[in-house]
Amino acid sequence: MTRKVLIVGNWKMNGSLAASRALVTALRAGAGAGAGAPATLLLCPPYVYLPAVREWLQGSPVGLGAQDLCDKAGAGAFTGEVSGAMLRDVGCSHVIVGHSERRALYGESDAVVAAKFQAAQQAGLVPILCVGETLEEREGGQTRAVIERQVKAVLDAAGVAALAKAVVAYEPVWAIGTGRTATPEQAQEVHAFIRGIVAARDATIAAGLSILYGGSVKGANARNLFTMNDIDGGLVGGASLAAAEFLEIFRAAG
Ligand code: PGA
Repeated sequence: MTRKVLIVGNWKMNGSLAASRALVTALRAGAGAGAGAPATLLLCPPYVYLPAVREWLQGSPVGLGAQDLCDKAGAGAFTGEVSGAMLRDVGCSHVIVGHSERRALYGESDAVVAAKFQAAQQAGLVPILCVGETLEEREGGQTRAVIERQVKAVLDAAGVAALAKAVVAYEPVWAIGTGRTATPEQAQEVHAFIRGIVAARDATIAAGLSILYGGSVKGANARNLFTMNDIDGGLVGGASLAAAEFLEIFRAAG
């Protein structure tokens, strides 16, 4: 089965209107027409820039996603929050859920992440579910247990069928923003493990599930990661803020 290959730029809390415009303009020009392209590029800017980025991307094959959403579906008195429906409304097709920075810095539990995953799907968005172990957990031999807990929290809440309309991203916390990438073999091992967890419930859904790698992906290491059997693209932070570097990663997926 051929799986969709996705290269996602997670801008995090970076940029300005002017810098975002320059970045999008360069990416548009470099991404080409898209027809027949082996991979899809997707940008996840901060909420406030979504409508502008959508405008700048008009007519280009580059997609739009958000970095987070409210765990509550519908509308209501949730000051400061942004719903999945609003993200759809401004042109997003995807949304990141459970990024390790959300889990670690904003206290998001597995239950909250599962609620966000479901809220995203209820709004018609494709959730990009992030999972990953810390350095301490890896060194303590806990990697598989942590990943299994994080994946099963969503499987148990949403059901395996929900994974047919989702993407998973494996992002070892120790590799995010540190310049210390997982080796292709280390990443492949965990990707295969994730696919196995899903396959135990539905082999067809597991075979079609795109699993991205994230954590210090760069132009120089992307190709070796993307050639691994179970790595179906990348979730890129720092390197997605520099057009030439991000395009190099995109081309490495071809
Ligand atoms: P990084 O971030 O590429 O800067 O390591 C990846 C991520 O957090 O999604």
